Amino acid sequence: MEITNVNEYEAIAKQKLPKMAYDYYASGAEDQWTLAENRNAFSRILFRPRILIDVTNIDMTTTVLGFKISMPIMIAPTAFQKMAHPEGEYATARAASAAGTIMTLSSWATSSVEEVASTGPGIRFFQLYVYKDRNVVAQLVRRAERAGFKAIALTNFEGLDLGKMDQANDSGLASYVAGQIDRSLSWKDVKWLQTITSLPILVKGVLTAEDARLAVQHGAAGIIVSNHGARQLDYVPATIMALEEVVKAAQGRIPVFLDGGVRRGTDVFKALALGASGVFIGRPVVFSLAAEGETGVKKVLQMMREEFELTMALSGCRSLKEISRNHIVADWDASG
Ligand code: FNR
Repeated sequence: MEITNVNEYEAIAKQKLPKMAYDYYASGAEDQWTLAENRNAFSRILFRPRILIDVTNIDMTTTVLGFKISMPIMIAPTAFQKMAHPEGEYATARAASAAGTIMTLSSWATSSVEEVASTGPGIRFFQLYVYKDRNVVAQLVRRAERAGFKAIALTNFEGLDLGKMDQANDSGLASYVAGQIDRSLSWKDVKWLQTITSLPILVKGVLTAEDARLAVQHGAAGIIVSNHGARQLDYVPATIMALEEVVKAAQGRIPVFLDGGVRRGTDVFKALALGASGVFIGRPVVFSLAAEGETGVKKVLQMMREEFELTMALSGCRSLKEISRNHIVADWDASG
C-alpha cells in the first residue's frame, strides 16, 4: 500500500496490533480533550507565505545542543516499542540515524542503552524518570553516558501511563515500577542531576512561563514544551498554544523544543515560526513501527522531511533562521 502521509500509519497500526497495545499507544488522559486539542490547535494557525523568493536551495539542517542534525524533526521517547514491533527501539535507532536525526530513548524502553548503542553510530538522548532510589538513577545515567548518549531529557510525571499496562498483562509489575517514581521530585533535583552528570539536561513537560524561568535558573540546557502526548493532565492547553509564552520567558537563553500532535511538515514550520528550535514526534513512530518496522519509521521521517521542505519553499524560506513569526498568523493574534 502506498502511504502518503504520516497519519495513515495509525489506521494500519490499529488493524495490526492487539487492541490493548493499540489503545495504550493511541490513548490520552480522561476525556482526551487535550489529545484532540494538540492536533486541532495547529489548524488555528495559518500561513502568510512570501512569494518571488529564490528557493532553489533549501537548508533544513540545524544544531541541537551542539550536535548537527539534518532537520529540526526528532524522535520523542515512547515506552515499550517492542510491543509495536519485535525490533522495537533497534529499528527506531537505525531509522533515526539513517535520517541524520536524534532519537530519545525512553526510561521504559524494551531495549537497554547498550543495546541501542550497539546498532551503530547516532546522536541519542536518554529520557529519565527519577526513582525514589537515587542510586538506581545515578547508575542509569552513568550507563547512558557510557553508551554514548548525549543528553538527558528529564520527565517528571505520575506513573498513570505505565499503570495502564497492567490492564494488559495483569502482573502488577508495571504499577510496581510506576510506584517507584519519586513524587517528591523538584527543581533542586535538577541541580542534583548536574552533580552526577555532565550531560546537558533538557526539562520535558514545561507548559508555562513560570516553569520556563525556573528551568533557566536551574541550569537546564533546554526546554521541551510537552504535555507528554496528552497522557497526563487532561485540559492542559495544546503544546503549540503554550509554546510562545515559554519561548518569551526563556528569552533566548536556552533553546525551546516542542512535542505533541506534530504530524505534518506544516506543523513543524508553525512550531519554528512560534520560536521552537525543533520538534519531537511520538505516536507516528510507534504506529509506523507497528506497520512496517524500521522501514515505516524511515518513511515517517522522510515524509515529514519532504513536507517540511515543501512548506519552507512555498513560504519563501531558505533556511530555518528565515522562518519568522511573520510567516504565520494565529487566531489568537486578532485579539492582541
Ligand atoms: C509517551 N511519552 C513518553 N514520554 C516520556 O517522557 N517517557 C515515556 O516513556 C513516554 N512514553 C510514551 C509512550 C507512548 C505510547 C506515547 C504515545 C507517549 C510522551 C512522548 O515522549 C511525547 O511527549 C508525545 O508522544 C508527543 O506527542 P505525539 O507526537 O505522540 O502527539
